[in-house]
Amino acid sequence: MNQDHLPLLLALQREQDWARAAQACLVPQADLKQAVAAAEHEYGHALIRPGDPFQGFTAEGEKVVAWAQEFSDAVAVLKRCFAASKKQAALAPLLERRSVSPKRLGLPAPEAADIDQMITAALSAPDHGGLHPWRFLVFSADQRERLADLFEQEKLRRDPLAPREDVERAREHATRSPALLAFIVAPKARMRVPEREQSLAAGAALGNFLNAAHQLGYGAIMLSGERCFDPVLCAALGVQPAEYLAGFISLGSVATVPPQRKPVPLDAVRSSWTPVEAAPEPGTGALPLNTLKR
Ligand SMILES: Cc1cc2nc3c(=O)[nH]c(=O)nc-3n(C[C@H](O)[C@H](O)[C@H](O)COP(=O)(O)O)c2cc1C
Repeated sequence: MNQDHLPLLLALQREQDWARAAQACLVPQADLKQAVAAAEHEYGHALIRPGDPFQGFTAEGEKVVAWAQEFSDAVAVLKRCFAASKKQAALAPLLERRSVSPKRLGLPAPEAADIDQMITAALSAPDHGGLHPWRFLVFSADQRERLADLFEQEKLRRDPLAPREDVERAREHATRSPALLAFIVAPKARMRVPEREQSLAAGAALGNFLNAAHQLGYGAIMLSGERCFDPVLCAALGVQPAEYLAGFISLGSVATVPPQRKPVPLDAVRSSWTPVEAAPEPGTGALPLNTLKR
């Protein structure tokens, strides 16, 4: 039977009336009658008892309707499954992302055009007022040794007696990853957008950047560490007094796949609001401001 005819037949069973069934399916009655006639021709049996108004289905008709109902239910289940797997596939890149530590990264480094795409993704993150209160500093390959010198000097400022291996490790933070960027949060002096919202916008931009890196097939990780708080290093990187160095992003191809994320139960971060009966503040008759409870 033509699959398009199934809803017509089922509507006729439901409504037990030609006009109402046709109306329910938004088709002219003639189309409905034609669909029934086609099915009767196919099965070689009358499906509807003769007579006007509608007299109900014959025994064979009831069987066809029961089959049509089963088929239609199965199709609905199938469509739900397909829709669910489509949703899963759509979210997979977000759910799969893991940070990839520098020791798990290898060559080739992302091309400049790929990094530009990641920054473009960062620019499409939620951003109150469109201030983009953040910026990326890209270090070219030939600048990495100079950066390593700065990391070494910072390490020695913090720990003048640091063993050579610790100093070497500090240098490696500048040289190890196939590509390296600094992420600088640059809040803009706008009363309209509080600084805390600008910090959130910066975090959202960073998240988009890391997700874009993952979706382009690269590994990435954001690492800060004490050096980000060092004013001499920050000044050498051109971080302005109103800005702060949030960290360094290592980028590269994934040489070793990181372990899977441990699942966090949703209820750890989700709860339903329980309205709190607010008592008037003593003496004012006003309601306390903070009446939301987790
Ligand atoms: C701003 C910022 C700074 C971070 N600094 C460090 C760091 O210094 N050391 C570290 O081990 N992880 C740091 N992380 C966490 C890692 O980047 C990473 O998110 C963490 O290892 C969890 O891995 P996941 O992203 O796969 O969940 C930082 C994350 C952010 C957002």
